[in-house]
Amino acid sequence: MLRTRIAQVLNESQPGEIVNVRGWVRTRRDSKQDFSFLEVNDGSCFKGLQVVVDSSATGYDTIKDATTGASVSITGEVKDSPGKGQRVELQASEFCVLGTAPADSYPLQKKGHSFEFLREIAHLRPRTNTFGAITRVRNTAATAIHEFFQSRGFYYIQTPVITTSDCEGAGQMFTVTTLNLERIAEIQTQINYAQDFFGKHASLTVSGQLEAEIFACSVGDCYTFGPTFRAENSNTTRHLAEFWMVEPEMPFYELTDNMELAEAFIRHVIGAVLERCGDDMEFFNQRIDKTVLDTLRNITENDFIRLPYTEAVDLLLQSGQKFEYAVEWGCDLQSEHERWLTEQHFKQPVILHDYPRTIKPFYMRCNDDGKTVRAMDVLVPRVGDIIGGSQREERLDVLEARMTECGLNPQDYWWYCDLRRYGTVPHSGFGLGFERLIQLVTGMQNIRDCIPFHRVPKSAEF
Ligand code: 4AD
Ligand code: MG
Repeated sequence: MLRTRIAQVLNESQPGEIVNVRGWVRTRRDSKQDFSFLEVNDGSCFKGLQVVVDSSATGYDTIKDATTGASVSITGEVKDSPGKGQRVELQASEFCVLGTAPADSYPLQKKGHSFEFLREIAHLRPRTNTFGAITRVRNTAATAIHEFFQSRGFYYIQTPVITTSDCEGAGQMFTVTTLNLERIAEIQTQINYAQDFFGKHASLTVSGQLEAEIFACSVGDCYTFGPTFRAENSNTTRHLAEFWMVEPEMPFYELTDNMELAEAFIRHVIGAVLERCGDDMEFFNQRIDKTVLDTLRNITENDFIRLPYTEAVDLLLQSGQKFEYAVEWGCDLQSEHERWLTEQHFKQPVILHDYPRTIKPFYMRCNDDGKTVRAMDVLVPRVGDIIGGSQREERLDVLEARMTECGLNPQDYWWYCDLRRYGTVPHSGFGLGFERLIQLVTGMQNIRDCIPFHRVPKSAEF
């Protein structure tokens, strides 16, 4: 008999229907009479299915093996449930334990393990309520991202993971090599990348933007959505060494168009999660962060504030707030500053724009003031910087000067410069950190819990 997923049984099956479900036992209660209640979860929805197994069911003699974590297959009849909290339950006719989970060694015995502990068993944590819910929210958000862009005619471009350029110019790249580093350490003092696999120094990409620009300047609106890598040694609750980024790139867009798209984009994705992940979001709001639904509704219902960097610095200086890092015009804003603006002062998302040139990468369009660039960062409560983007410098001479100023050799980026040499157009784009979005949407404190397998300094297990 074909397996039915529990979400479907709970939402659609009618009393009298015979179904087969398979999943993992969450709890078992044995009654003094000859029957047991199982709660079985198969990951298809937040709720588990209540199953009644009595001595009339084949396999009932093995019920003692159905401990927490054991996998089971149950065929039975869907019945109206007399119990509270569920519409239907299953009366088993055939019961089978597929795999036991000995109670003395199965790590997920009791509820309420700390997230730190669960990170050490990331291969089992998807079986918990919290991580099942995060998995479904992540899936819905990813789907909504594709829907948003596809419905607007954007092309999904698969940009490379291995690259020889440094998009952000921050020198936080992981080297990709087939050179025998141990051997080199023994016999020579310098690495010659000409002898390496790609004939030059290659790295894992920090961003698909530069390649996305190629397609934006050829076939029009497009986006990439893939893994990106940063070797920043920052042990914070908001940084991963491997994270997923969504990067749309649009020809003929100026910065204000870019802002409008970013705002509509965040709204669409949050709206989709609120609409489709009701039970999961209810759980996050009750158990993880009691303000998460209010925060999300605030974001979907109000326009984002737009504020030049210069004015933000003035506000911070006048705030009377004691910050760990002092603020002055020209400094990169720290998370504490960003969060003060969006959480305390405006209490809603803020798009900061026109940042000092000196703290931003080479590709951002220079303003006529000679000091600022057409950059934008979208700041949201609890997470801070969730999107970074800009209008791109489309003037070849200005771009080359900026590259030189940033210590890059324009010849190394000859193909990027060619886009300006031949048929250049104004264009813009941005990057959304997918895990920061999941942090925002779920209310989870630590970004390490917002990706199936986290990569951070000193940790790449699983
Ligand atoms: O501001 P960033 O560095 O922008 C870029 O990479 C541009 N090339 C994007 C573009 O214009 N196409 O990063 C964009 C976003 C940040 O706002 C943040 O949400 C996320 O990526 N991000 C990280 N997320 C998790 N861990 C990290 N270490 C992150 N670094 C950036
Ligand atoms: Mg940024």
